[in-house]
Amino acid sequence: MTKIIMSGCNGRMGQAIVRLAQNSKKHSIVAGYDANPEKKNDFPVYSDFAQIKEAADVMIDFSHISATSSLLTYCKSQKLPLVLATTGISGALEQEVFAATQAIPIFKSSNTSLGISLLLSLVRKAARVLGETSDIEIIEKHHNQKVDAPSGTALVIADAIKSCLDYEPEYIYDRTKEQKKREHKEIGIHAVRGGNIIGDHEVLFIGSNETISIGHFAQSRELFAEGALKAAEFMKNKTTPGLYNMDDLVASII
Ligand SMILES: NC(=O)c1ccc[n+]([C@@H]2O[C@H](COP(=O)([O-])OP(=O)(O)OC[C@H]3O[C@@H](n4cnc5c(N)ncnc54)[C@H](O)[C@@H]3O)[C@@H](O)[C@H]2O)c1
Repeated sequence: MTKIIMSGCNGRMGQAIVRLAQNSKKHSIVAGYDANPEKKNDFPVYSDFAQIKEAADVMIDFSHISATSSLLTYCKSQKLPLVLATTGISGALEQEVFAATQAIPIFKSSNTSLGISLLLSLVRKAARVLGETSDIEIIEKHHNQKVDAPSGTALVIADAIKSCLDYEPEYIYDRTKEQKKREHKEIGIHAVRGGNIIGDHEVLFIGSNETISIGHFAQSRELFAEGALKAAEFMKNKTTPGLYNMDDLVASII
C-alpha cells in the first residue's frame, strides 16, 4: 500500500487521482493539501503544510506554481519523495526544484501519460530522419481553464526534437511580431485553448512533398492520474536524492 499526500486534491487532477486511489487496494490518500477548503474528500485536507500530521510514503502535486516553494520545503523537511506534476515551472523556481533534488528524490513530469513517453521516442526518431529536410511545428490544444501556455509538454517535445538536430533551433511562439518568411531553424509552437479539451499534442514534420504527423490525444484525465500513481509507486521507496522522469518509470516497467 502506497500512502500518499495529495497536493491540489480539490482540483480536477487531484480529484481524478482521489477517485482512482479509492478504487485501488494499492494506494491510499492519507492527507490532502489545497488552498480551496471545500470538503470533497474522506481524508483531512490542509492549507498549511506545517499542520500535516499524517505520515506518508510520497507526495503527489497537481496544484499550481504558487505552491511549489513551500511544497519543496515540506518534502525536504520530511525526507519525502515527491511526484511533481504541476506545469509552468521555469526560471528561478525550476532552479529551486533542481537544488531540492540534492536533498530528496523528485519525479518531475509535465505529462504523466505513458503514451506521451512513446510519442517522445517517435518524435526523436523522426527528428533524426527528417530534421534536415522538413519544417517542424508543434500544436497543442487544452481546455479554456489552463493558465500556462505553451503547455509544459509542448516544451518537452520541442526539447526532445532539439536534442536530435544538428543545428540550434529557435522556438517561435508568435508569428505576428515579425513579418518575415519562416526560417528552417524555427520550431513553431502553437497553443489552442477552448472548451474541455483535456490535452492534445501534434508534431508536424512538413517537407516539400510530404508531411509526417505524430500526435497524442488525451481522452480522459485518468490517463495522467494513472501515470502519476504509477510514478508514486516507483518513487515511494527511493532514498537516493535526484531527478527522475517518465523515461526512468518506463524503463522500470519494461
Ligand atoms: N503532469 C501532467 O501530466 C499534468 C496533467 C494535467 C494537468 N497538469 C497540471 O497540474 C496542475 C493542476 O491542474 P488541474 O487541471 O487539476 O487544475 P485545477 O485548477 O483544477 O486544480 C488545482 C488545485 O490546486 C489548488 N491550488 C492552487 N494554488 C494553490 C496553492 N498555492 N496552494 C495550495 N493549493 C493550491 C486549487 O485550489 C485547485 O484545487 C496544472 O499545473 C496543470 O497544468 C499536469
